[in-house]
Amino acid sequence: MAERSIWGSKVGFVLAATGSAVGLGAIWKFPYMAGANGGSAFILPFILMVLSFGVTLILAEIIIGRAGRGSVVTSFRRLAGKAWVPLGLVGVICAFLIMTYYSTVGGWCLTYLFQAILGHATATDISKLEETFKLTVSSPTSAILYQTIFLAITAAVLFFEVNKGIERISKVLMPLLFVLMCILIVRGLTLPGALEGVKFLFAPRWDQVSASSLLNAMGFTFFSLSVGMGIMITYGSYVGHTEDLPSASIWIASLAFTSCVLAGLMVIPPVLAFGMNPSAGPGLTFITMPAVFAKIPFGNAFAVCFYGCLLVAALTSMISLFEVPLAFMIDEWKMSRHMASICLFIALAICSIPAALSMGPWGDIKIFGRNFFDFLDYLTCNVLMPLSALFVIAITGWFFFDKTSYEINATRKRSSAFMKFFRFMLAFVAPVFIVVVALSNFF
Ligand code: PFF
Repeated sequence: MAERSIWGSKVGFVLAATGSAVGLGAIWKFPYMAGANGGSAFILPFILMVLSFGVTLILAEIIIGRAGRGSVVTSFRRLAGKAWVPLGLVGVICAFLIMTYYSTVGGWCLTYLFQAILGHATATDISKLEETFKLTVSSPTSAILYQTIFLAITAAVLFFEVNKGIERISKVLMPLLFVLMCILIVRGLTLPGALEGVKFLFAPRWDQVSASSLLNAMGFTFFSLSVGMGIMITYGSYVGHTEDLPSASIWIASLAFTSCVLAGLMVIPPVLAFGMNPSAGPGLTFITMPAVFAKIPFGNAFAVCFYGCLLVAALTSMISLFEVPLAFMIDEWKMSRHMASICLFIALAICSIPAALSMGPWGDIKIFGRNFFDFLDYLTCNVLMPLSALFVIAITGWFFFDKTSYEINATRKRSSAFMKFFRFMLAFVAPVFIVVVALSNFF
């Protein structure tokens, strides 16, 4: 079996996995998903799902990686046998497809960062801000250009193997992002009418929970925790036997979850205070934040720091996504790391074009009623990730629980009550939840 390097420090793995989980999902996606799906009708199920099957799946994926010591496909083969290889491929395909639209949003971040550097980050007129966002995302040249730059930065980081450097930078910038968000939350909450936003987010309105808000909350749970396409498997393959996997999983889930709630509190209260529509869609964060920056001292400098940190958070997530097909190409196709990074970059630069154009000239092209961007988002989060998660559950919870149990107990022996509870969540609660939520959308 190939030698694999082990994370340098005990917190190294948790930090890298958290870097993967915390990204655009929390800051860009969570606020608009919550806004479009009835606020608390989305957030409360999301909390429930993170606590139930979310943490369980993170743990299950890390276990497969540590036991299989390879990319998702390699680990599936080593742990469960050849027959599982095609199922592992679903994860690789899913990671590739996510990157095709994640890079579009990464491009928007770059655009807003450049605008902030040029001193154009603050404005108070909401209709002008909406116009600016529309222009940014609908211009084919700028959308494709910035998206390709974002992809090139990711590929370059992996080509030159400086991801350790990025992780080191993110150790400083991620906490800074949290601090900036806290300041923005305080400013947003002190705007007149902002408390309506807090009510919208947290006051239970169970009557508004629908099959589709549940499916969206489930898809977002996978997306925000980075589970369901093999990232935690790939990262887990580098974890040593001294790492306590259950506590690592709880840390990763808590930090990802906290960043979502903070982002919700940062965006939604100002949205309501400014009289905007919370279900305005993917532009919500980008349209709202310049108006908040305008209301704080040194708003433009603040914006530069904010978008800079956001870009690093987006990059660490993108790097983790890139790592899934990359590890697959290196392990399975025996390609060199350099060759694989270049090929993947070219393939992504081409395949990401439809998502970039779907807010502009290709906006009228619909697949099952959605433009390319929305279709890719729906397909990956609501179909492929749940499917891939079911395979992980089948391996770790149903067919090879003895291996799972060995890995969990490798660092320290767990009580039988813990093991029974874990197995119940993994083998029963998680799959029933996933299947029922998915099927409820057909009836
Ligand atoms: N969790 C990342 C985010 O919230 O931005 C996005 C992501 C990364 C999704 C890695 C899936 C993944 F495998």
